[in-house]
Amino acid sequence: MAKNFTLRTAFILLLLVSGLAAQQLPENPLAGREVFEKEGCLNCHAVNGAGGKIGPDFGKQVFPGNAYDLLSKMWNHSRNMLLVMARTKTERPHFTGRDFRRLGDFLYFIRYLGQPGNAPTGRRLFVSKGCIRCHSIGKPVRGKIALDSMKIYVSPVRLAQAMWNHSILMHRRGAAKGVRIPTFSDDQFADLTAYIRSASSLKSDEEIYSYPGNPVRGEQLFKEKGCYYCHAEKPIGPKIDRIYTDQSVTEIAGIMWNHSGKMAEAMKTLKRPFPSFSGDQMADVISYLYFEGTPKTAGSAELGARLFKEKGCESCHQAGNHFGAPTIGKFGPFHDKYDFLAALWNHAPRMEELLVARGKQLPILLPNEVKSLYLFIDAKTEAGK
Ligand code: HEC
Ligand code: HEC
Ligand code: HEC
Ligand code: HEC
Repeated sequence: MAKNFTLRTAFILLLLVSGLAAQQLPENPLAGREVFEKEGCLNCHAVNGAGGKIGPDFGKQVFPGNAYDLLSKMWNHSRNMLLVMARTKTERPHFTGRDFRRLGDFLYFIRYLGQPGNAPTGRRLFVSKGCIRCHSIGKPVRGKIALDSMKIYVSPVRLAQAMWNHSILMHRRGAAKGVRIPTFSDDQFADLTAYIRSASSLKSDEEIYSYPGNPVRGEQLFKEKGCYYCHAEKPIGPKIDRIYTDQSVTEIAGIMWNHSGKMAEAMKTLKRPFPSFSGDQMADVISYLYFEGTPKTAGSAELGARLFKEKGCESCHQAGNHFGAPTIGKFGPFHDKYDFLAALWNHAPRMEELLVARGKQLPILLPNEVKSLYLFIDAKTEAGK
C-alpha cells in the first residue's frame, strides 16, 4: 500500500514536472541564434539589416509570434524557400525538437531587443520630457542632480532601473516643484541613454553591458519582489498574461515606469515596500513579462481530427499505405510540441515529393491548424502508449 502510494505520488510529480516543462521559460533566449546560423537561415534572412537579403528580414518584416506560427510561416513559404535553396545549393534545415524551440525563442525575442537609440532624439527628449528641470548632464548646474555617472551603462534598462529605484523621490520632487513626471513610449529610453552616454562629462572608459534578461530568473524575482501578490494572487493589478504581447524591452520598461506612480500608491495603501532592483534584475523581470505575453494560438483535438482527413494526412497515414508512412498510433512519441513541429517540418520534402508525384501540392497550414493537428496526434499517441 505504502509502495503503491509513493509510486502514485511519483507519477503525479512526474506529470507536474512534465506539465511545467511544456511551458518552460528559456534561460537565454539568445541561444537560438546559434541554430539560426548553423541551419543557414542567416545566409538568406537578415536580423535588422545584418545578414542575407534573399528572404525577408526578421527584425522588420516577419515576426513569428510563437512556435505554431513559426512552423506555419515556414511551411507555407517552404515551396519558395526550397526553390531558392535548390538554386543556391543550400542544405535544407533539419531540426531536433530542442533546436526548433530555441530557434522560435530567438526569433520571438528579436522584437524585444528593440532598436538602437538615437542621441540627437534623446537630447530633444531630455528637454521636452522636463528631465532638464531637475537634472544636468555635461556640466554641473546648481540645484540640479547630475546624471553624468550613468554613462557607464550601455543598456537603456539600466536607466529605467535607476529611475524606477528613485521613483518615489522623483514623484515627490515633481509634486513639490509642480513638474509633471514624464511618461514614455516607443524606444525613448534607448534614445535618452544614447544622449546621456554621448553628453556625459565622465572621463571613465568603464562600460557595463547588460545581457538582455533571463526569463527564468525574472519569474523568481516577480515572486520575490511582491509583483506576484498584486498581479496574480490578488486582483489589484492586471493579470500578467494581459500585460504585453510584442513590445521591446525599452517599451516595456516605459510601461512599467508610466504606472510607477499608481503602483507606488497601491503599495502604500497595502503597506507593502516599493520593490527596487539591482544588477540585471529589471531586465530579468521584463524578459519574463515578455515571454508571459507570448501570443496564444487557439486549437482543439476535434478540429485536428477533421483536418487530418481534410488536409490529406490520412491519405498517406493509414494502415497498409505504400509510402512507408506510419499510422497515427505509431507516430512519435513526441516529448513535447517542439518535437512534433520538428518532425512535421523535417518530413515536408518527403511529403512534397510524394504529393508532387501524384500531381498535388503541400497543403497550407495555419497556426491554429498546426496546433490542432498536434493536439489530435498527441492524444492518439498518448492513448496508444
Ligand atoms: C536559401 C535561402 C533561404 C534559407 C537558407 C532560409 N530561408 Fe526562409 N525564406 C527564404 C525566402 C526566399 C523566403 C520568402 C518566400 C516567399 O515569400 O514565399 C523565406 C521565407 C521564410 C519565412 C516566411 C516569412 C513570411 O513572410 O511569413 C520564414 C518564417 C522563414 N523563411 C524562416 C526561415 C528559417 C527559420 C530558416 C533557417 C532554418 C530559413 N528560413 C532559411 C529563403 C531562405
Ligand atoms: C521633478 C524633478 C525630476 C524630474 C522632472 C526628473 N527627475 Fe530624475 N530624479 C529626481 C530626483 C529627486 C531623483 C533622486 C535623486 C537622489 O536619489 O538623490 C532622481 C533620480 C534620477 C535618476 C537616478 C540617478 C542615479 O544616480 O541613480 C535618473 C537616472 C533620473 N532621475 C533620470 C531622469 C530622467 C531621464 C528624467 C526625464 C525623463 C528625469 N529623471 C526627470 C527628480 C527628477
Ligand atoms: C501593491 C500592488 C502592486 C505591486 C506590488 C506591483 N504592482 Fe504592477 N500594477 C499595480 C497596479 C494597481 C497597476 C495598474 C496601474 C494603472 O492602471 O495605471 C499596475 C500596473 C503594472 C504594469 C502596467 C500594466 C499595463 O497593462 O499597462 C506593469 C508592467 C506592472 N504593474 C509590473 C509590475 C512589476 C514588475 C512589479 C514588481 C516589481 C509590480 N508590478 C508590482 C499594482 C502593483
Ligand atoms: C504523401 C504522403 C504523406 C502525406 C500527405 C502526409 N505524410 Fe506525414 N509522413 C509521410 C511519410 C512517408 C512519413 C515517414 C517519414 C518520412 O519519410 O519523412 C511521414 C511522417 C510524418 C511524421 C513524423 C512521424 C514520426 O514519428 O516521426 C509526422 C508528424 C507526420 N508525417 C505528420 C503528417 C501530417 C500532420 C500530415 C498532414 C498535414 C501528413 N503527415 C501528411 C507521408 C505523408
